Amino acid sequence: MNLAQYKPLETFSQKHLLTLQDWSEDEILHCLSLALKIKAMQKRGEAQTCLRGKMLAMIFSKSSTRTRVSFEVGTTQLGGTALFLSTADIQLGRGEPISDTAQVLSRMVDGIMIRTYKQSDLEALAKYGSIPIINGLTDEFHPCQVLADLLTIYEKKGTLKGLKLAFVGDGNNMAHSLMIGCSKLGIDVAIASPDGYKPNPTYTAWAVANAAAQGSRVTVCTDPLEACRDADVLYTDVWASMGQEGEADVRRKAFEGVYQINDACLSVAKQDAIFLHCLPAHRGEEVTAQVIDGPHSVIFDEAENRLHAQKAVMALLMGGIRL
Ligand code: CP
Ligand code: NVA
Repeated sequence: MNLAQYKPLETFSQKHLLTLQDWSEDEILHCLSLALKIKAMQKRGEAQTCLRGKMLAMIFSKSSTRTRVSFEVGTTQLGGTALFLSTADIQLGRGEPISDTAQVLSRMVDGIMIRTYKQSDLEALAKYGSIPIINGLTDEFHPCQVLADLLTIYEKKGTLKGLKLAFVGDGNNMAHSLMIGCSKLGIDVAIASPDGYKPNPTYTAWAVANAAAQGSRVTVCTDPLEACRDADVLYTDVWASMGQEGEADVRRKAFEGVYQINDACLSVAKQDAIFLHCLPAHRGEEVTAQVIDGPHSVIFDEAENRLHAQKAVMALLMGGIRL
């Protein structure tokens, strides 16, 4: 499958990006091919104006480098303006109902990107607001990251369907979104997590059903080497996510010494396997410095692709862009 020659959809009917489970295979491919096009335009220095006069509110209840910068820079590059709203400063953080916040912001801005804890808060914004809502990470999902990851995998491998991605570590928001995004596109996914930290069974069931429709596989196991065997892509994430700092010691005991992408994982993966990490990373914990700073690692191409992928999401949901 060549994304550069992908035949775009006639209409893009999604209003929000809450989770990639809501998007079809074609909608995801449409977004990725638009991201490639937008990236090429940016590299050629061609002006992009689909968000001219539009305003994105960015609500953050958690820290961010890549998400904040990619949305803020991306909005500006598309001709719009981004407004950074920390919940430490806005009334939402003091208990103003999310339903009121949704209705107020809908009168003033053209879209909301939110990074928060509960997925249900995003759903409430979508329910009570009238503008597009974009998930900038919740405890459950991180779909924007996965769009950038899929873009990176495509650029490095020249294809998506038929590949195998191995995820070693916590069955967290990244594991959920990777399972969902990959299974929608026919990429095999193998997750290795310790007992007690496996992905949520509901989301695993969604991914297994997506994979069945594609003729691909989603498996969850305990052994990292089993997951990494013959993988084209090796992926990991932190042992304790934002909001779980208080559990860091308990988590360390569950993961340490086993749930790490290292040379042993590389030795059982395909020879040309690439290493991805959403970042921020903890060298010596979930990944060795040798791997993350070594020749298989493409983490900075991946981080750059956050910008291009997020621009494609905004162009589709807020800019009315058709390819
Ligand atoms: N990967 C990612 O979302 O990075 P930030 O937390 O820096 O936004
Ligand atoms: N799982 C991590 C991802 C950070 C981008 C977290 O939620 O903190």
